[in-house]
Amino acid sequence: GVDGSERLHKQRLLVVANRLPVSAVRKGEDSWQLEMSVGGLVSALLGVKEFDARWIGWAGVNVPDEIGQKALTTALAEKRCIPVFLDEDIVHQYYNGYCNNMLWPLFHYLGLPQEDRLATTRSFQSQFDAYKKANQMFADVVNKHYKEGDVVWCHDYHLMFLPKCLKEYNSKMKVGWFLHTPFPSSEIHRMLPSRSELLRSVLAADLVGFHTYDYARHFVSACTRILGLEGTPEGVEDQGKLTRVAAFPIGIDSERFIRALELPQVQDHIKELKERFAGRKVMLGVDRLDMIKGIPQKILAFEEFLEENPEWRDKVVLLQIAVPTRTDVPEYQKLTSQVHEIVGRINGRFGTLTAVPIHHLDRSLDFHALCALYAVTDVALVTSLRDGMNLVSYEFVACQASKKGVLILSEFAGAAQSLGAGAILVNPWNISEVASSIGYALNMPADEREKRHNHNFRHVTTHTSQEWAATFVSELNDTIVEAQLRTRQ
Ligand code: G6P
Repeated sequence: GVDGSERLHKQRLLVVANRLPVSAVRKGEDSWQLEMSVGGLVSALLGVKEFDARWIGWAGVNVPDEIGQKALTTALAEKRCIPVFLDEDIVHQYYNGYCNNMLWPLFHYLGLPQEDRLATTRSFQSQFDAYKKANQMFADVVNKHYKEGDVVWCHDYHLMFLPKCLKEYNSKMKVGWFLHTPFPSSEIHRMLPSRSELLRSVLAADLVGFHTYDYARHFVSACTRILGLEGTPEGVEDQGKLTRVAAFPIGIDSERFIRALELPQVQDHIKELKERFAGRKVMLGVDRLDMIKGIPQKILAFEEFLEENPEWRDKVVLLQIAVPTRTDVPEYQKLTSQVHEIVGRINGRFGTLTAVPIHHLDRSLDFHALCALYAVTDVALVTSLRDGMNLVSYEFVACQASKKGVLILSEFAGAAQSLGAGAILVNPWNISEVASSIGYALNMPADEREKRHNHNFRHVTTHTSQEWAATFVSELNDTIVEAQLRTRQ
């Protein structure tokens, strides 16, 4: 049929990421309830019609029994998803341990775990072994589903060992790897006990991508300084084999946000929010509750602003949506109580019987509620201490066509390199600077707001997630052609 012949011409793409874009809840021995989550990557690939994409990843649940695994595999197949089953011990050592307690903080310049050094060093090896084992399990599933001509696109710090495993199975497989976090300065990467092994396995890929030119440059420096390889303008060369290294800044599906704002239920919600916060300016933070987001710094800056500007105390409210994440990792548990304590103190200090300055929510919002919130916001606050890109800043801009609110943006977010000219850039460690930027943003004249917004809006609606995915995959295809030419010469 039409469908089949269309599919023939589509590029088959295997997208491998630690987490599948679905959440699975078990409803019985052999029944599952699935919910598709539409993050940046999913909408990017849905938007590119020339791809026939399949997802390979962990469903985020422990399924020890065969009946459950079979049922989940069947249910996921309808969503073009293929599960990798990881047992509890692997998840603990690979995901909670090596990925989220080791690589994640290090790549965001927060160092390696410092407490109980000896114990950490000892468990480090077993965590790294679990990491490699998990990556091998992903590779097994990819290999099982791979067909000649497929392109395999690996994602993020969870899967740095995957390119090597895949090339060992099949050296002709086209393999790309993209990092969604920063790649740190080579001086930081050097601290990692497994620094060389990880770099070498990433280099097995044909194309290695980062959000910014700086991250790409850091990666090339790490390869030259730590591995002694040659860095070229195109990438890294090892005994005649070139691995292309380049920057591919991600974007969002801006149309999806713009369209959502026109829906009657979203319009109703916008009206409600406007009434609720009438007479007050709305400031907004939306983050996963993560150390890298600088949430305590943001709230302390807001406190300093209220302290120094008493006339604003009953005229502004900060809404902080803090989405719980990685709740099994002790550092994240500590952060939650720390943030609660600061919020409680400030609300106690500046609240009245009828109003508090900070509304802090420990949960996510559905897509439409989020769009409405973005649309009524006067000032968005993104204070990441480090952040690969930060798409919240993009989403806010996409929803501000009528309000033209102000974006305060950390200079340590990748987005600072694309939205820097429209946003107010801050160093989140400098609490006083953030506090005075809040004042500047709240008082900004309309013509300046408009100019800044228009600049960012143009960027966000032009450099979309669809464009990002299409560019990466097309470059991956070209890279292979180049490599084959080279061996023929
Ligand atoms: C970051 C990472 C993603 C990850 C996401 C959510 O954006 O780059 O790879 O999926 O956080 O974190 P989680 O640990 O819940 O998957």
